[in-house]
Order: sequence, then structure tokens, then C-alpha cells
Amino acid sequence: MSIGVGDIFKILCSDGVIKTCKAGWSHVGYVIHYKKNIQKLEDEIVRLDDEWRRIDGSAQRARDNAEVVENDVWMWLMSVYGMKAEVEVFLLDMVRENKSCFKCSCPNIHWRYWLGKESKEKIAGVITLKEEGAKFMTCPLSHRAPLPDVGFTFSANYEAFDSRKHIFEEIIRSLKDPSIKMIGIYGPSGVGKTTMVEEVRQLAKRNGLFHSVAMTTVSKAVEKEKVQGELASQLGLKLDEYGRAGQLLNRLRNGQKTLVILDDVWEPLDLADIGIPTTDGGNNEQLNLPDIGIPFTTGSDMGCKVVITTRKQRVCQMMQKSSELKNFPIHVLTKTEAWSLFTKVAEISVDSEIPSEAKEVCDKCGGLPVAIRAVAAALKGKAEHAWKDALRQLKNYKIKEIADIDPNLFISLKWSYDRLEPKDARSCFLLCSLFKEDAEISIDELVRYSIGMRLLDQNLNIFDEVRDRVLAMVDVLKISCLLLDGRNESVVKMHDIIRDVAISITEDKHVVPTHMHEKRGKATNQVKLGSHQP
Ligand SMILES: Nc1ncnc2c1ncn2[C@@H]1O[C@H](COP(=O)(O)OP(=O)(O)OP(=O)(O)O)[C@@H](O)[C@H]1O
Ligand SMILES: [Mg+2]
Repeated sequence: MSIGVGDIFKILCSDGVIKTCKAGWSHVGYVIHYKKNIQKLEDEIVRLDDEWRRIDGSAQRARDNAEVVENDVWMWLMSVYGMKAEVEVFLLDMVRENKSCFKCSCPNIHWRYWLGKESKEKIAGVITLKEEGAKFMTCPLSHRAPLPDVGFTFSANYEAFDSRKHIFEEIIRSLKDPSIKMIGIYGPSGVGKTTMVEEVRQLAKRNGLFHSVAMTTVSKAVEKEKVQGELASQLGLKLDEYGRAGQLLNRLRNGQKTLVILDDVWEPLDLADIGIPTTDGGNNEQLNLPDIGIPFTTGSDMGCKVVITTRKQRVCQMMQKSSELKNFPIHVLTKTEAWSLFTKVAEISVDSEIPSEAKEVCDKCGGLPVAIRAVAAALKGKAEHAWKDALRQLKNYKIKEIADIDPNLFISLKWSYDRLEPKDARSCFLLCSLFKEDAEISIDELVRYSIGMRLLDQNLNIFDEVRDRVLAMVDVLKISCLLLDGRNESVVKMHDIIRDVAISITEDKHVVPTHMHEKRGKATNQVKLGSHQP
């Protein structure tokens, strides 16, 4: 059988032959275009690396913001990382081998074939990864971490009330969020703002969220130098007499992450005047800084965050220059939470017989922890008639209007004071109110004033005897939740609201000369007794 030209043409044009030729040509192409392929691979890997950096940066920021990065994002980042390493090794090998070929000046066809083929395959892998990564540019890379139930370790006396858990968590999230510069926490007196920021402070210190944390109480009459001094000493900064704001500002803009907590703010503060940065640039004009006579560094204050607590929402709103400030209200406790704190302090076990009046007595505290603790402590271990009596008295107390104090709070605290036994405990309580607001009250000073003012009932003359008595009374007041522990054994503190109630009692009773107190609401924090400062 003879084969004609037409048949030969048919065979040559058949699929099988075309495929074989194409395959053969592509193999030849690896050798001819090996340089072009390598160049393309280098270009593509640079593009992939740019995309990788953008997505990796967003993933890191999401992690810093306590978010969970999606699994497929991690997988992609890891794959790209692997691919980049692989291509790098491949290109290094190529350079090495090129050098040795150059020495013997022989065109190594097999080597060129391998380079061309490998680079072509790698280009395909790189392009696939690049296309996969493109979808992460438009969809979210992360999601909020589920709220942990027992994620935080709190101090022994701190109750993590359900209604406040999410606020606490949001505060911690905001601390991690680089776009939030300030956090405002507001709520009525005695509701638990200071207690909460104290926990925030400890947590921030413990888990290394910040390089340094400094907290101070601002109070009604702002003492700028005291605020600066207290912040500086906690930041390990020694302030000179002049240019204090500038020195503090430089310290807070040294590039490290610093948390500044300003507790008990009454009026909008000029933070720049104190030396606390409020913007993210080195722009002094923007900060509206006073002429304080020392040069400013040009460091970044991005690392400085400020938390303020205040009784007035207005203060938060007025300090809110932009969305950089996030506000959190702290409300009074729910009935269930109030009751749980009450039973805990009064040591009423679930099984024991709860006096029928107990819940009503608890309600009289208006959901304010400061009042709940004081009233519950006074009723601890008391028989039923004491509870009945308590309820009757709490209902019949005359409401006294004191600026910024919930009438329920006044009644509860006054009632706790009236229950204090022995009488010397009441004298000691009133004596403490004569010290400056938020002062650390020295036990020795209490002893000296007790002797000088003949405050104690008993006829004690020796200093040590009086000291023992004062210490015993201080213990009674602490157990009654009317005095707080100080920084060490030799000092105690009085809550500002309890001090206000104590001052009001002294005015009514005229137990201390009235000139010793300034009129409340004006300047109760003027020094009257004691030079001891925290
Ligand atoms: N979460 C809590 N767990 C246990 N006790 C609490 C809690 N919050 C507040 N208390 C009690 O209430 C008292 C008053 O709370 P805190 O000093 O935090 O109130 P505040 O809102 O800062 O009041 P002020 O506006 O007068 O400064 C505390 O000394 C503490 O005994
Ligand atoms: Mg407070």
C-alpha cells in the first residue's frame, strides 16, 4: 500500500503529532528562554512579596487589637513564606552554578533547560498565590476573639460583675487599639470607677501591654504640680523645678508605650498643659503648648494612652476632640449583682435563713457598691431584730442633699456610721475626714491628733496606749468598709464620698470646729490636718 502526499500531510496535521511537536518545542523553549523566565520569576516574586507584606502587616495589627486572624490568611502567609524561601534558594543556586559555568565557558544545555523549566513552574506557583492573596484585600482578615469567661485574673476583693465584664473587656481592647488615644469612664460616685481602673492598671502592668503605667488622682481642685510629680515618679522621671510639663511630655513621647490613668477628674483637663501628649505628631502648635522654656524632642507620642475617670459624662464629652476618645458608662449594679455583693459581705450563706428584710435593706443602697459594702458589713452576723431595725431606720432617715451624692448613698453611709461601736471608732472616723481628700492618713498623726484634741473616750495618756487604741479603731473602720488600706501598714485612706458624708456629719454635730472644714463643694481638699501626702 502506497502512502500519498495527502496522507503524509494528514499524519503531520494530526492531534498527536501537533501535541508531540508542541511539547518538544516547549522543552526547547526552556533552553532558549531560560533568562527571560528567570527575570519574570524575579518580577513576580517581588509583586508577591509586596502583597505578603501588606497582608502580614494587617494580620499583625489585627492581632495587636486582640482579634483572631482567619485560618486561611495564616495558611496563605505561610505558603507565601515557603515560596519566597524556595525561590530565594533557587536563585542563589543559579548564581553559584553560573559562576562555575563561566569558569569553564561551556554553555551547559542541561543546566539551562533545568533553569528554564524550574523557573516557569515556579512562576505558575507564584502567580497562583498572588491571585489567592488578592481576595484578602477585599474581605476581612480577622474577627473579634470570643469573649473569655475567666480570661482575666482579678484582685481578691474585686467582683467581676456580669454587667461590667464586657465594659472591662472593651476597655482592654481599646487599650490595644492604636486608633484610640483616650478612654473615658464615667458614672456616679461610689459606683466602682476607681476600683475598675485599678484592675485595668494591674492587668496592663502584669501582661506587658505597656512599657510603663502611671496612675494618679486628679480630684476637684487640680494641683498640676502634684499630678505631674506623681506621674513622673511612677515613670522613673526626675522632674526639675522648671519646664516640668515639657520634661513629662518628652518622657511620654519617647516612643515607648505608656499608659496614664487620671482618676477622679472633675473638669475637662488641659492635658498638654500638664505635659500629657494628646496628638500623634511632633506638632507643638497643634498641642497648643505653653511656653515652658525647654526644647521638645520630636519623638512620637503614639505610644501614650490616657484613661480618665469622672463622675460627669460632660467631662468625657468635652475632652472628646475626635473619635480618638472612647467613653464607657458605669451604671449602678443590677438587683441580682447588688444582692450577691451584699450576701457576700454580710456573710449570708444560701442555706442559712435570710431575714425577710435583707433584700429591702440591700435595695436601699441604690446599687452602689460603696454603700452595699458598708451596710452589709454593719449587719454581718446580726439577729433578725437588727435587720428589722435597720430597715425601719433606713426608711425614716431624713434625706440630706449633698452636691454630687446620691441621697441613698448618704443615708446608707450615715446609717453605717451610726452603727459604729465603740464610740471611739466614730471619733476616729470623723477625725480621718479632716485630712486632705485622697490623702494617705498617717496612723501616727491620728494618734497625735487624738491626744491633742482629747478625742478618745478612755483616759489614755501614754502615746503607745493611745496608738494601740487608734489601731484597734482603725481595724473596726476597715472591717466596716469605712476606711481603706493604705500603701503600707502605717497609713490608711478614706474614700472621697465617705469623707464627704463624714464632713457633713461633723458639721451637723459640731464635733470639730467648723472652721476646720472648707464648705463642701468648694474646696474640701484644702489641707486641714496632716502634712502626709501619698
Ligand atoms: N467591682 C467591685 N468589687 C468589689 N467592690 C467594689 C467594686 N467596685 C466598687 N467596689 C466597692 O465600692 C467602693 C467604691 O468604689 P470606687 O472607689 O471605685 O467608686 P468610684 O466610682 O471611683 O467613686 P468616686 O466617683 O466617688 O471616686 C470601693 O472602695 C469598693 O469597696
Ligand atoms: Mg473614684
